[in-house]
Amino acid sequence: GVTAKIAPSMLSSDFANLASEAERMLNCGADWLHMDIMDGHFVPNLTIGAPVIESLRKHTKAYLDCHLMVTNPLDYVEPLGKAGASGFTFHVEISKDNWQELVQRIKSKGMRPGVALKPGTSVEEVYPLVEGANPVEMVLVMTVEPGFGGQKFMPEMMDKVRSLRNRYPSLDIEVSPSLISFCNFSWALWDGIAGIGLGEVCTKVDGGLGPSTIAEAASAGANCIVAGSSVFGAPEPAHVISLMRKSVED
Ligand code: DX5
Ligand code: ZN
Repeated sequence: GVTAKIAPSMLSSDFANLASEAERMLNCGADWLHMDIMDGHFVPNLTIGAPVIESLRKHTKAYLDCHLMVTNPLDYVEPLGKAGASGFTFHVEISKDNWQELVQRIKSKGMRPGVALKPGTSVEEVYPLVEGANPVEMVLVMTVEPGFGGQKFMPEMMDKVRSLRNRYPSLDIEVSPSLISFCNFSWALWDGIAGIGLGEVCTKVDGGLGPSTIAEAASAGANCIVAGSSVFGAPEPAHVISLMRKSVED
């Protein structure tokens, strides 16, 4: 069996107050802190690197779940290992021929290796990395184009989660959608119905309101839930985190 891991994406946090934002999320019940590391080349955005992870590590013992949207992940293994990163998830779209060496190096620095796949990449691409001699320990299924938070959830990605769950029952499968992006949604309504669980919560889908994405992701088999805008945008992040956990563990 797998356990739920709720990982707020710090991309949506106030980077000028990263340590206190991290503490706030942990006090709201977060299991992991999802750190989006972008190089401005693999994705058209530039965020943080090892120096920031190193500084944050001085303020928290939390699991730092680093998501590397970078063209040369091998370059960052040493610096991030030293900085105190906990998880190191690279993208399968980078050169696949040296992924064994990459996974080996990640493990040798005491970090947990994971692989991520973009919406356009077929799920079969990651099978060799899960089944290989030196397997990754988590697969991150992107349900938005990497680079920015607050995008629309792509429900068609749930087929990849289902395939992975069926093939690897105890694998950690992380999804990184914009789980609940409130656009024309009133928090009063949310608080009114939150008690009856996420399944009934409507979220924005193409501007309208559709079935909850977290329930969809959880029922497809995802157990690690990354969310940025839906958590940081909520008046009560603890409420959202506990409802997400409930949705995965029910
Ligand atoms: C996107 C990042 C995600 C993103 C999630 O490139 O990998 O982690 O920050 O944030 P939301 O939940 O706002 O889509
Ligand atoms: Zn991410």
